[in-house]
Formats: sequence, C-alpha cells, structure tokens
Amino acid sequence: MPGFKTLDDLPEELTGKKVLVRVDLNVPMDGAKVTDDTRLRAMLPTVLELSDHGAIVLLLSHFGRPKGETRPDMSTAQLVLPIHRLSGRSVRFIEDCQGPEAARAVTVMLPSNIGVLENTRFHAGEEKNDPELAKGMAALGDYYVNDAFSAAHRAHASTEGVAHLLPAFAGRAMEAELQALERALGNPERPVAAVVGGAKVSTKLAVLGHLVGKVDHLIIGGGMANTFLAARGVNVGKSLCEKDLLGEAESIFERADAAGCTIHLPYDVVVAKEFAANPPSLRTCNVHEVAADEMILDIGPAAVEALADALKTCRTLVWNGPLGAFETPPFDAATVALAKTAAALTQDGSLVSVAGGGDTVAALNQAGVTDDFTFVSTAGGAFLEWMEGRTLPGVAALEQA
Ligand code: 3PG
Repeated sequence: MPGFKTLDDLPEELTGKKVLVRVDLNVPMDGAKVTDDTRLRAMLPTVLELSDHGAIVLLLSHFGRPKGETRPDMSTAQLVLPIHRLSGRSVRFIEDCQGPEAARAVTVMLPSNIGVLENTRFHAGEEKNDPELAKGMAALGDYYVNDAFSAAHRAHASTEGVAHLLPAFAGRAMEAELQALERALGNPERPVAAVVGGAKVSTKLAVLGHLVGKVDHLIIGGGMANTFLAARGVNVGKSLCEKDLLGEAESIFERADAAGCTIHLPYDVVVAKEFAANPPSLRTCNVHEVAADEMILDIGPAAVEALADALKTCRTLVWNGPLGAFETPPFDAATVALAKTAAALTQDGSLVSVAGGGDTVAALNQAGVTDDFTFVSTAGGAFLEWMEGRTLPGVAALEQA
C-alpha cells in the first residue's frame, strides 16, 4: 500500500520475534461479557497471521478512560478469555505495558503465543505521548504493528510515539480501513454522496464544512437537519434545533453552492407531540406544515424516495449518522429504508458504500445490511476526524516510519 509498510513487508520468518500490536480492546462490556466483539474480531486476521508465522504477539491497547490511574474495572485482563475463545490460541495476561516486570513475563513466552499487556492508560504518560513511556513499550518488541484505526486520532505513546522507535507496519484491519477510506473520499469514483445525520450540528460542523468541498450530494438528516431547515425559514415547531448555529448553516449552504454540491433536506417529515415509541400523535406531513407543538423525529417516505433516486445516480457513498431518532420505533424507518437501498446498489455493483462512526454501525445493524456495505468502519471518533479531513496522528506516524 502506498505510503505504508504492511505485514507483507515483515520478514517471512518471525519465529520468536516479539511483535507489539496496537489494537483497540475498548469494547463494550456487561460484567464479564463483551456485548459487541466487532473490534476483537477485526484484529484477528493480523493476530493470527503473526502467530502463524511464529511471532510472540503482544497486544497493546487502552480500555476506557482511567486517566493514569490503575482501575481494576478497566484492566485488559478481562479481555484475555474472550480473545482466547475467538482466536483458539494460548493467551496470557502481562501485568504492565512496559518495564522490567513486563519484560520478564515476555521472556517466558513461546513462539506463536499471544500476550495481552495491561491498559496503556494506567500510565499518565500514555495520553501525553511521553517519550519515556513510548521507549518502555518499544523495549518489549522487535517490531510494531498498528491495527487500531479507531484509536489513530489520538497522538498517544502507544499509537504515535512508539511508531517512531521500532520498524512500524499497518496491520490488516488498518490496511483495509485506509484502503476503503481512500476509495470513499481520497480518490473516489464520482458522483459522490455523503449522508450525515445525528442529533446536533455542533458536533458535525467540521465534517459538513469539509464535505461540501468534496462531495456532489450532501444528505443531511437527524436532529441536525432541523437547524438547516430553520435556516431556510421553515418553522420546525418544538424540534431539536440549534438556533445559535443558523448563521453557520447559512454559510454551509453558500459554500455548497459555490462548490457545486447539492444539499438534500427532507420535504416531508414524521412528527409527533411527544418523543415516545409509536406515540398516538404520530403523523407524516409536508415540512412546511409542522405545528408549533410538534417535533420532527424522522424524515418522510417521499423524501426517502427522492434520496434513493439520488443515490442511484451516484458511484460512491460515505455514511455517518442516522436520519431519524432510530432507536425509537417507528423513527428508524427512513434510516432503514435508505440503508437498504444503499446496500442493494452496493450488491448490484453500482455503488461503493463506506459507513462508520458511533450510532451508524448500530443503525446499519438494525437495518440488517452491515455485511452488504462495501466497508463498515469500527471507528467512532477517528472516523469523524477523517471525515473532517484531519490528519490522524497514528496514521501519519505509520507513513513516516
Ligand atoms: C473509541 O472507542 O472510539 C476508541 O477506542 C478511542 O477511545 P477514546 O475516545 O477514549 O480515545
């Protein structure tokens, strides 16, 4: 892959070589149970490939935000069993991610064994990208592999600092992620559409500002669409609306016009007087007919049809955020319907579809189409920063290595 070394650039013979692999073990848990193991499964190809080549695989990761404190509830020890079950390999816990104790524990490991190092964020130096901590981590390995795109927006010792101290490589998940992102926004087939949804414009302003200069169609959904509708003079009743951002919304319209990007806002909407599942006051109406005591909770069927028609003319789609309040039925209808259209177009071979970021994966799972998209990112914040056009320090460090 241009700019990066990958596992293909590692020596064939790795027997007994220690490979530090930055993964993202920051998975949701309920007690001892991992409730979503997507990130664990995503790292498996890299971990198994290295183990198959005889490497001693040392997994390096944060878990939660312990802020430099040792917190037993945030120990990576609790991931040892789930990783053993998924990988079918011998997996042991190592009580630190640097230092003499950790080094001693590594010396007794055998080729192909997997070790889980303790939470990097138990050291205050991790988030400060402390060179001493990075040195301590690097001393444990012969090679460094970064397979955690979802943590690559952090310039931390384990994601950035250590990459400069050892021969550094992108793991298979990182490689796939970077290739997909390049296809989606770096060098996409046109026309390109972006769906940006979610509750608040304030969290996505930078994303929208970057995308208007990059894509041909910008589909705005979720609560944030209300602010744009209000900027166009639409009365949005008691919908979520950031009135202080009307000027920002106006400037995004202007920049889109100048760049030849079409902004799509709904012309019919699903409204209710209260936010609850299947409320009695539920109705679909023209966007200009929202009553003062109603709130917009999803976009309407006519708007979904128009968006589906727009997608049919596109070759590439980037998706972040739901179109409505999708956790509460029936306000998931538009998200599910448009996701199904995107999935069908992808399966027909006419669309490259890349999605990512927090709620998005949950929304696509709800629509049952995750496997039908070209690529679904496991990243939250990193995906958003990439959509903002920012350089991710963890990726830049691999490029320089
Ligand atoms: C994530 O869950 O998005 C990553 O693991 C990064 O976690 P952080 O936001 O705590 O840095």
